[in-house]
Amino acid sequence: MRPVTIDPALNAGLTAPRAAARGPDLSEPGLRRSKRLAFLLTILGRRLPDSWVWRLIRRWEGGSATSATLRQVLWERNRVVAGAFSYGSLLYPTRHLREGLVIGRYVSLAQTAFWSFNHPTDRISSSPAFYEEGEYGRFTNLPEPHPRLEVGHDAWIGDYVVITPRCRRIGIGAVVGAGAVVTRDVPDYAVVIGAPARVIRHRFPEELRARLLASRWWELSPDDLRPWRAALARPAEDAASLRALDEIAALVRARTKDAASA
Ligand SMILES: CC(C)(COP(=O)(O)OP(=O)(O)OC[C@H]1O[C@@H](n2cnc3c(N)ncnc32)[C@H](O)[C@@H]1OP(=O)(O)O)[C@@H](O)C(=O)NCCC(=O)NCCS
Repeated sequence: MRPVTIDPALNAGLTAPRAAARGPDLSEPGLRRSKRLAFLLTILGRRLPDSWVWRLIRRWEGGSATSATLRQVLWERNRVVAGAFSYGSLLYPTRHLREGLVIGRYVSLAQTAFWSFNHPTDRISSSPAFYEEGEYGRFTNLPEPHPRLEVGHDAWIGDYVVITPRCRRIGIGAVVGAGAVVTRDVPDYAVVIGAPARVIRHRFPEELRARLLASRWWELSPDDLRPWRAALARPAEDAASLRALDEIAALVRARTKDAASA
């Protein structure tokens, strides 16, 4: 059986600092790495314009959700750890260092979802013209406390969401409604809306939430999950979905055991 190559640090809550120290796992089955693009980046480096990198990622690696190169670039330029099969706004390389941002697997981020740091508010000026020493706008000398954010696996973050530095964790399977201003941590499988964002409900009853978390289904690739594709797209409380979840959980356990004994 194929060994599990997923970084376990990306798969549990409250492990973001470890993942952030090691970077993403680029050998993940299901991520695509184009040798042509790697070659171009090696010889041209930053001279290859970002717009070209994007175009080639789409053409040669299937887009942001499956691109290994994108994850490498995000790590090298921004110190962002981006899990496999996630896509959206926080997966675009920027000029800013974003050390401490760890995005789980299968995360859906709207193109207009934002997360950033605070400018200092207790000084004569809040402008980086005074607290930044390096290249203007690069923000390598972030004000303390250094912002960190872990976005849990399979979270969905809607359009025009702003996540402020006080929020350190968006939970696994959480939903952040359009236009929310998220100032606090969001629990696993919670739905939050508004400014400041408040929990309006959980997606599932407590017992099912626990079952989903225990299954760790997100550790598998879309290819691995193909036999259960239809069940994953049905309401989670259907009997067939629950059966599928048990089968998936058994596969994850078997893979984890194989990896431990390898
Ligand atoms: C949060 C969300 C998922 C909730 O969907 P839902 O469970 O179907 O909720 P409903 O539409 O039934 O609304 C329930 C209540 O919450 C309110 N509400 C829903 N979404 C809201 C939001 N984003 N901000 C403020 N209030 C919201 C509704 O007005 C309604 O209030 P009421 O009961 O007083 O009338 C959805 O409204 C949303 O924001 N989706 C994000 C869409 C998006 O950004 N897509 C980008 C694709 S990546």
